[in-house]
Amino acid sequence: MEGLSLIDLAENSTIREQQKRGEQVKNPFESDAFKAANRISIDVTNMFDTPGLGSVSRKDVESLVPEVIKAHQMLKDGEGDIYDHGIAMTGWQDLPSEIGEEHLTGIRSITSELSKEVDAFVSLGIGGSYLGIEATFSALTHRFFNQLTRDERGGAPEVYFLGQNMDPDFFRDTLDMLKGKRIAVNVISKSGTTTETAIAFRIIRKLMEKNWGNAADRMILVTTDEARGALREMAGKKGYRTFVIPDNIGGRYSVLTDVGLVGLAMANIDIEEFVAGFRAMRDITSGDDFWHNPALVHAALRHAAWSAGKKIEVVATNAVSLYSVARWMEQLFPESEGHDGHGLWVSPSLYSEKLHANGQMVQQGERNIVETFLLLREHDNRIQIPITDSNLDGLDFVVDKGLDMNFINRMVVEGPAYAHYKGGVPNMTIEIPRRNGFNLGQLYYMMEKSVAISGYLLGHNPFVQPGVEAYKEAMFALIGKPGFEEETRKIKNELAKMKRTKI
Ligand code: PA5
Repeated sequence: MEGLSLIDLAENSTIREQQKRGEQVKNPFESDAFKAANRISIDVTNMFDTPGLGSVSRKDVESLVPEVIKAHQMLKDGEGDIYDHGIAMTGWQDLPSEIGEEHLTGIRSITSELSKEVDAFVSLGIGGSYLGIEATFSALTHRFFNQLTRDERGGAPEVYFLGQNMDPDFFRDTLDMLKGKRIAVNVISKSGTTTETAIAFRIIRKLMEKNWGNAADRMILVTTDEARGALREMAGKKGYRTFVIPDNIGGRYSVLTDVGLVGLAMANIDIEEFVAGFRAMRDITSGDDFWHNPALVHAALRHAAWSAGKKIEVVATNAVSLYSVARWMEQLFPESEGHDGHGLWVSPSLYSEKLHANGQMVQQGERNIVETFLLLREHDNRIQIPITDSNLDGLDFVVDKGLDMNFINRMVVEGPAYAHYKGGVPNMTIEIPRRNGFNLGQLYYMMEKSVAISGYLLGHNPFVQPGVEAYKEAMFALIGKPGFEEETRKIKNELAKMKRTKI
């Protein structure tokens, strides 16, 4: 038997998009027509007056407007609880307009040169030093990017991520994929001391040095604090090329800094278009006209839902490409909102898959859920549903009506949006016109501003993460890191006193 041929199927447009990017063909993202066709919108209809307890009314949301506008003003003026170690952490606000063409050209010239010399690129990092790059990469590239030919990837190397967990099997499996390949890495850590990133880097660096000696140094990029930290020091000693995470931008707000830009440029993603998306949403969300500012509305809706007793936000998408974006939101919101007993737990969900699992809970479980759909309006490809000779599955009507898989997939959002609303789950739909960097840039900026406003509404600083630091310190202590001796003793004593129950 011969191998499967994709008879009657058009070429995959995601591959075509990758190839166009490789040929430097750009989307006309400066044009008004492109901007109009690529405008993120939020349908808030289903947020209001759900049946049963814990509903949110339009009046509830409107009663928040004065507070939201005040918060917006304070954010713009750099006032309030926004400091980390004496630095106002709002540098992400104006970053879209501050990034210059020269900076982007500089990144592209390094990455395009490096890209030609390697078969695979590895991005090392965790949390804000990982999720935004992975989300954007997954949203804009073929699901099986690394299994495609280089030509199908638009000339980009394979792309891998490490340092986001300490699973030795996962690490080893990834190394197997790198075997025999020329690789480059970008190690990303603002603090330079995050254990997972540091261990991953140590292993990869050692391997690279054993293989290529000093020549490995050229293949190592470091993205870290401009002046401080272990990575900065090591980069200075070894002469690695470095990129900067600005002091006034925290990890989860950093996807538009070199943290995101370098890796995205390595994957051939148009970073100019990405920046343009951020700029567009910065303009759209700059005013105080509440119902015309999606970031303010988004913040107020979520706050009203939380105040009405909602504790979980299911962020559901019908696009595999956007699932990682939901995971990015899972970091941005809880790490910023989860302080002092506050905050919504974000649960990223891929529909239809999850509709056959915790979809039951969303429909009929405890009414503590609010839902946000990320609806991709146009997928890259259209898939027609074929007629069969038997109609045993009863689906010929779909073909007779001229409906394709894309239409059915849209119903995977519209159906649950209606059913869940009727079941008492307020929900909103964020509609993303197409898979492109412009739309992702818009979405990220809107979310960053929304969560910043949320911090003011909840009454705490959304730019610090003492809870995350607490786990880092406990881990240092348990590993026995020098300097943590006191903490190690304390934790070990406490653990020794605890009565263990194992069944
Ligand atoms: O948002 C944050 O600040 C965190 O998620 C950090 O990005 C994460 O802890 C990684 O930190 P670092 O870049 O210092 O290694």
